[in-house]
Amino acid sequence: MTSLVTGGAGFIGSNLVRALIEGGSDVVVVDDFSTGLREHLPKSSRLTIVEADLADHAGLERLVRGCEYVFHLAAQVGVITSILDPVADAYANILGTVRLLAACRDSSVKKIVCSSSAAPFGEAKAERIDETHPQEPESFYALSKMSAERYAVLASSLLRLPTVCLRYFNVYGLPLSSSEYAGVISIFLDRLLKDEPLVIYGDGSQDRDFVYVADVVRANLLASRNGAAGAVYNIGTGTPTSILELAHLMSELANRTPRIDFRPFRPGEIRHSTAAIDRARADLGYEPAYDLRTGLGAMWAELWPAGMRRDP
Ligand SMILES: NC(=O)c1ccc[n+]([C@@H]2O[C@H](COP(=O)([O-])OP(=O)(O)OC[C@H]3O[C@@H](n4cnc5c(N)ncnc54)[C@H](O)[C@@H]3O)[C@@H](O)[C@H]2O)c1
Repeated sequence: MTSLVTGGAGFIGSNLVRALIEGGSDVVVVDDFSTGLREHLPKSSRLTIVEADLADHAGLERLVRGCEYVFHLAAQVGVITSILDPVADAYANILGTVRLLAACRDSSVKKIVCSSSAAPFGEAKAERIDETHPQEPESFYALSKMSAERYAVLASSLLRLPTVCLRYFNVYGLPLSSSEYAGVISIFLDRLLKDEPLVIYGDGSQDRDFVYVADVVRANLLASRNGAAGAVYNIGTGTPTSILELAHLMSELANRTPRIDFRPFRPGEIRHSTAAIDRARADLGYEPAYDLRTGLGAMWAELWPAGMRRDP
């Protein structure tokens, strides 16, 4: 079996590549290394790396022809970057997706699993956000991800492609990611190492659904087997964690007394965002294996196998 992974050198992509190879797959990675790094990828004779811009790669059809599964993760992921350069954002996220879908036409690909996002949901209007929750993108990034998802869904009927979209909430894990999704974990970690107070904007009651990268990888593998063509699934844990709870938990894991520097709430910041994951549970058999404590614990164990020292 051969899988094509776009954006395979990135944070989530490199974890997926490793899992696919461990599961016995051959893997072809297409990545332009705009944010991804070669060192994220495992050394394996099963891995082929193609350095290319997904939106502008003449050999894409040929690559797709040799693959049973396509996992599409390549994207411009920065919210602020999308506002500074909306053209580059739309090019990578919309055109990149459309080019990939077009390349999959008339192929024998069994499933195209697209990495979508919870970003277009914005502020939660319900305790849990299910797949029917209104989408009101507030950044070009959210808009480009929403558009890419709509292309993928429509391609299942118009082009008869077996697309499945996964809307990730806030993914964390290694390699450390500085994206807005779980950048707070990288920032808190850095501050804990420097023994500096953790900065919280507002009272810290704003919450997020932090989902460990290993669960997101498993969701991709499950979607490649069980996902219904044209379907969209939320991928999170279903459990909210406030930023204040996160600060306390990370301080505890680092053996530090929590020191928090409260600053004024930043206008525009989303207050609540937690996934309803019933659809993924029912259709994919997805069940998150990591709560935040165990996920952060696994991260810690990988970063500091002998346990974190008190002194930085
Ligand atoms: N990290 C999260 O919490 C999160 C949440 C929701 C959705 N997502 C989605 O998951 C996917 C992976 O995100 P990530 O956090 O691993 O980001 P990342 O930036 O680490 O990975 C993206 C990868 O895509 C590559 N890339 C970018 N533009 C490309 C292009 N035009 N051609 C080829 N390669 C290109 C980058 O070099 C990088 O390796 C993205 O589609 C993102 O929108 C991530």
